[in-house]
Amino acid sequence: MAKTIIVTGGAGFIGSNFVFLMLKEHSDYRIICLDKLTYAGNLSTLEPVMNNPNFRFVKADICDREAVYKLFEEEKPDIVVNFAAESHVDRSIEDPGIFLQTNIMGTATLMDACRKYGIERYHQVSTDEVYGDLPLDRPDLFFTEETPIHTSSPYSSSKAAADLLVLAYHRTYGLPVTISRCSNNYGPYHFPEKLIPLMIANALADKPLPVYGEGLNVRDWLYVEDHCKAIDLIIHNGRVGEVYNIGGHNEKTNIYIVKKILELLDKPESLITYVTDRKGHDLRYAIDPTKIHNELGWLPETMFDDGIVKTVQWYLDNKDWWENIISGEYQDYYERMYGDR
Ligand code: NAD
Ligand code: TYD
Repeated sequence: MAKTIIVTGGAGFIGSNFVFLMLKEHSDYRIICLDKLTYAGNLSTLEPVMNNPNFRFVKADICDREAVYKLFEEEKPDIVVNFAAESHVDRSIEDPGIFLQTNIMGTATLMDACRKYGIERYHQVSTDEVYGDLPLDRPDLFFTEETPIHTSSPYSSSKAAADLLVLAYHRTYGLPVTISRCSNNYGPYHFPEKLIPLMIANALADKPLPVYGEGLNVRDWLYVEDHCKAIDLIIHNGRVGEVYNIGGHNEKTNIYIVKKILELLDKPESLITYVTDRKGHDLRYAIDPTKIHNELGWLPETMFDDGIVKTVQWYLDNKDWWENIISGEYQDYYERMYGDR
């Protein structure tokens, strides 16, 4: 049956990939992207679907109650998928305030709208970072949905606070919610402040590749389309009130990733520069995806060795997209973050 879905944060990395997937997989659905277009949001990313009659873009802040309610009145959505967030750990260490505002208050505002106008499903896109980190010397340990919340950064704390609020709206008001907690994503349209696109951009410019600490921290990388497919399954078949972990058993150290990128671009390892570690740097993330596999049949489709080749090629083929981004405000950010690190 045709549905109307509001996708918040759809001009960002994962949200845009989700918009593309939804329009492709559900040709009778109406997809509304609500996005504030912060530094991380790019309207040019959505260019390919702007003229699609099943798509509408609305520039608004998820914290703006009046604008959110107006959109709900106009569109009467069946489903809301909330990707909108401040998403970068380093920025949250520099200035936590906007993280609390968008990630917590914005989530509450969206859910208030869902309560007021009625909804079939509210889905919160969360992160494995709410579980904190795992030790490097215990490869047998993984995050399950039962792992206690134990956050490290202002970013992960704000995401965890939002998750608790989502579960409270379910328990208190009976709001039909689901939550997904995914590991690190990579792929097309990834904003160049994050590890993989930053290293690709710097390597192509023969600039130093700033690796925090010794580069031994471990992340569990998932190709972005696999994350989007998991959310598609959860909003349609997932059980209300449940949390689903998403990850593909693909743990790599940061230094492995950086060296792989250099190899694919045929650039020298002498570009690697070890810099001062991130404050409170999480050691290892690793997801146990048994629940989503058993309940919804989800499995990752893109293996890392293929996904990283596709991703590097995408950045080579779409230089306009990211060169435009790194020519603006990003220069100040980069200087602040890496200038005398
Ligand atoms: P992103 O930073 O690339 O995009 C965020 C988008 O949200 C941007 O388009 C931005 O303009 C928009 N936005 C920010 N504040 C807003 C506001 N107040 N109102 C409306 N729109 C606003 O982020 P991403 O990497 O695509 O992450 C999307 C979601 O997935 C986030 O909730 C993040 O916590 C979560 N997540 C990300 C990863 C990852 O590896 N990137 C992994 C797990 C979960
Ligand atoms: P990031 O892409 O910021 O994602 P997250 O912090 O959410 O996992 O960083 C991934 C890993 O790469 C993390 O351990 C920090 C490290 N990192 C660097 O070593 N250098 C960098 O310039 C960046 C941005 C990240």
